[in-house]
Amino acid sequence: TPMPVPPLRSSPKPERLSLVERPRRNRKSEWARRLVTENVLTAGDLIWPIFVRDGVGERTPIAAMPGVDRVSVDVAVEEVARAASLGIPAVAIFPYTDPALRDPTGSEALNAQNLTCRACRAIKEKVPEVGLMTDVALDPYTSHGHDGLLEGGRILNDETVGLLVRQALVQADAGADIIAPSDMMDGRVGAIREALDAAGHLDVQIMAYSAKYASAFYGPFREAVGSSGTLTGDKRTYQMDYANSDEAIYEAELDLAQGADMIMVKPGLPYIDIVARLKNQFGRPTFAYQVSGEYSMIMAAALNGWIDGEKAMVESLMAFKRAGADGILTYFAPRMAERLRRER
Ligand code: PBG
Repeated sequence: TPMPVPPLRSSPKPERLSLVERPRRNRKSEWARRLVTENVLTAGDLIWPIFVRDGVGERTPIAAMPGVDRVSVDVAVEEVARAASLGIPAVAIFPYTDPALRDPTGSEALNAQNLTCRACRAIKEKVPEVGLMTDVALDPYTSHGHDGLLEGGRILNDETVGLLVRQALVQADAGADIIAPSDMMDGRVGAIREALDAAGHLDVQIMAYSAKYASAFYGPFREAVGSSGTLTGDKRTYQMDYANSDEAIYEAELDLAQGADMIMVKPGLPYIDIVARLKNQFGRPTFAYQVSGEYSMIMAAALNGWIDGEKAMVESLMAFKRAGADGILTYFAPRMAERLRRER
């Protein structure tokens, strides 16, 4: 038996609800929405991670990161000059190390003439107004792709910290302004701070990757720095378990006590709760890293015509501001900064 069809309303106009609160009033037009905007995103919030490689005039696309290239140092200098003109305050340098230079102890990390250091010096000379951030961890330099020394299947903590301290000093000597330990070894922030101070690098800041999770979202990055093919096992004995968030508070507390000037959460959007918690708990400069896999997901969907990539970019970056982040590391940095410039 068919369902009975309900009768049409007799009155042509529905009755008015007796509402005092109508949140839509503040959204009625562009100007009204602008007036009540709670968060703003500016170019000053962005840090741009760039990949450097050997050679001159080189630009190699990274297949898993459409729109992102590995560039030789001379091209990197031009790119950073463009970032500066767009108002981006800082860039983060990641090297693609020649596989022939990778070894079990990552000794190339301590070479004052390595790619990272050469890029730092070249950029500092030509674009001194941009902040230079460098990653402290051994993975772009080790033959096994781990961030630390590997012995009998284990990553050695204290021995690794000894190397990371030397790596940080080599980078600071080359002109790095912000040292960013991404290795997740215990005690590395304090050890690096002490060594920097002893060497007279009192103004060199530390941005600690405090809450860095063992994540599948780093996949495209590992292709970019050439460590994906070599990585044996996973990084779960040093990077955090994504089931945990109190542990992020613990890690950040330790890093701040050891002298971190800024803390970071990584990846970004899947860990937006951690960004909010850390900012609320400590009220200290807190950054989010929208990592390679997050970038690639947006780009892949956009290139398939499934989402509007430009809008998804802006929305995802604003989410970090809303969560309380002071800044965002993102591969979208120049594109976002260009958009902000057009809007002005
Ligand atoms: C290295 C490092 C990684 C990233 C930044 N520094 C990869 C990893 O820990 O395996 C990932 C960045 C990204 O995915 O964009 N310690």
